Amino acid sequence: MPDGQLQPPPTPLVDRFGRTVNYLRLSVTDRCDLRCTYCMSEKMQFLPKAELLSVDELDQVASAFIARGVRKIRITGGEPLVRKDLDALLSRLSRHLGAGLDELTLTTNATQLASRAEMLVRHGVKRINVSLDTLDPDRFFEITRRGTLGPVLDGIAAAQAAGLKVKLNTVVLRHQNAAALPDMIRWAHERGMDMTLIEVMPLGATGEDRIDQYIPLTMIRDRLDQIWQLQDLPQTDLSAGPSHYVRIAETGGRLGFITPLTQNFCAGCNRVRVTCTGRIYMCLGQDDHIDLRAALRGSAPAQTALDAAIDQAMRGKPERHEFEISHRGAAPALPRHMSVTGG
Ligand code: 5AD
Ligand code: SF4
Repeated sequence: MPDGQLQPPPTPLVDRFGRTVNYLRLSVTDRCDLRCTYCMSEKMQFLPKAELLSVDELDQVASAFIARGVRKIRITGGEPLVRKDLDALLSRLSRHLGAGLDELTLTTNATQLASRAEMLVRHGVKRINVSLDTLDPDRFFEITRRGTLGPVLDGIAAAQAAGLKVKLNTVVLRHQNAAALPDMIRWAHERGMDMTLIEVMPLGATGEDRIDQYIPLTMIRDRLDQIWQLQDLPQTDLSAGPSHYVRIAETGGRLGFITPLTQNFCAGCNRVRVTCTGRIYMCLGQDDHIDLRAALRGSAPAQTALDAAIDQAMRGKPERHEFEISHRGAAPALPRHMSVTGG
């Protein structure tokens, strides 16, 4: 290209259905220190560490997406805080904040948050999602098959003290937390945290039958409607994604509903997911993926190969997921666990 001639602006990521992708969920590990009954099996096999993308490769992937118009990155796992070099990755990614990237954020189970919250703030993280399904220590142990609640609550308090805005994500389980949701919502809202309820999705074998876990959120909303006044909020915020929000008049806090089963939300999908081994999954509920690791480690210049792989992924982004939980003994909709794609 002759001197002085400007490169054409990169083409934004738009799929066949006219949806613009501006949100990347980047998984940094498939490992987790918990084994939630709806997420993993008790004896989960994790990938050898050599399979994971390095900090350098994760950075290249993220930067390629930012160059194509991604404005928000969420770091996920497994549990992202179990990755030892996360500090180095966030340090790299934070250079894009204000220069293409609007937000760098993370989803965590908070078991190690107390000692890591300051580090997140240092790298420009402003808000985080904490996955928490109960406030009862025995229930917590039961759901996570091993966890201790105390450090999680300390982690949330430390994050708030460090200035992070915390939102709680709660997977609603018929027998284990559905009845306790009003107390949990009150607890969160009293502490200035929004909360999102999530329908359990049939991803991966967990050793449990989904039909025993699943309860439709339409039913939960009906119950909450009898206690409180729920005011529907307009879908304005880019980061709201598939969540439908209400404000609870009595608590003043926001409550989100993620309803993959009872109400499909795919028309507004703005995201893709990259796994810790460098696969792009265009949809949480489909198995199609493109391998970016080949592009990163191949002979062509990485940037060009990455761009081509990202374009190929966009062409293949499906219209919607096809989850259903209809009968006992059904096989998972997909063999892949949530901890592979990071939710
Ligand atoms: N269905 C719904 N949510 C799930 N999560 C993990 N597995 C499932 C599932 N099968 C949630 C976690 C966390 C987020 C990353 O995904 O609780 O909040
Ligand atoms: Fe770990 Fe989150 Fe899966 Fe629980 S739901 S096992 S905390 S990745």
